[in-house]
Amino acid sequence: MAQNKDHGQGIYPEIVEVTERLDEQHIFTTKTLGFLIHPNIPAPGPQSKIADVGTGTGIWLLDVAKTVPPTVQLVGFDATPSSFPSSSVPPNVSFKIQDMHRPFPDSELGTYDLVAVRFVSSAAGRGEWADTVRNLMTLLKPGGWMQWIDSCGFALYNSVPGTSRRACREIFEGLEPFRKKGEEIVIGLMMRGGGDVQREKIWEGVGLVDVHEDVFSTDRLQDPELRLRERGTRNVIVCFTGCLESLVGTEGSGWTRERIRELESEAMREIGRGVYHTLDQVCIVGRKPGGSGV
Ligand SMILES: C[S@@+](CC[C@H](N)C(=O)[O-])C[C@H]1O[C@@H](n2cnc3c(N)ncnc32)[C@H](O)[C@@H]1O
Repeated sequence: MAQNKDHGQGIYPEIVEVTERLDEQHIFTTKTLGFLIHPNIPAPGPQSKIADVGTGTGIWLLDVAKTVPPTVQLVGFDATPSSFPSSSVPPNVSFKIQDMHRPFPDSELGTYDLVAVRFVSSAAGRGEWADTVRNLMTLLKPGGWMQWIDSCGFALYNSVPGTSRRACREIFEGLEPFRKKGEEIVIGLMMRGGGDVQREKIWEGVGLVDVHEDVFSTDRLQDPELRLRERGTRNVIVCFTGCLESLVGTEGSGWTRERIRELESEAMREIGRGVYHTLDQVCIVGRKPGGSGV
């Protein structure tokens, strides 16, 4: 259940549970991109099989299910079932526990027309991304497509002169421990840049063809009614403070729950005064050679 969390502005009671935050993030992302499945990918046919890896609440998969024939099989994989939907789902949708870095069961190999991944890049270092993509490719039929959506390039802006961004910045700076996995820099949301990753080359390097990348900024949409800019900024700050909370009690982190709550409340006030963020929403698609596509 959502609790009413007062951040001093009385305008952000909605997003408390992780599942609700993920679902709101889904709405913002889909509006920014303008598609669930990239238009370069042929529309799924009645016999198609679609995987969503790192599915979370499965919201992308469940939305896709509404747009494809009811005979299409849709499977959500996640390392943990904690966010899997608790209510009933359509009979052609199922969820399975699977770490995307581990080999998939033989019964899954070569059976999918589309493998989609969204917002899991912080779980992979740059060096292991190619191996992860290679592992996911094993799910694809010849000619099947892969779609990976993630965000990077977080930046903070003022819309009103004289407004402090201090708390929002301190929260973002605090994510340093998440920017590396072992000795490697991660490729997702927490990183500072993103332009130097050369994602298309990595995908071509593992053997995918027809590789194409689009990068949309979250400010692509001007949508004052939905307050996407403000609500999206609140959403991402709550995501970040959730990450910081996992550092509480870690030796040398210096973070306490009280400090994080205090900063979050201050950040929400800053956003209420007009501070907002932008992010690059990256969508990269590619096809496994062979076959005749979806
Ligand atoms: C930020 S959520 C994104 C959920 C969903 N893709 C979406 O866009 O709404 C990241 C998800 O990736 C999952 N995840 C993280 N590491 C993973 C791994 N190694 N294998 C599979 N899933 C993983 C997490 O459990 C979580 O559900």
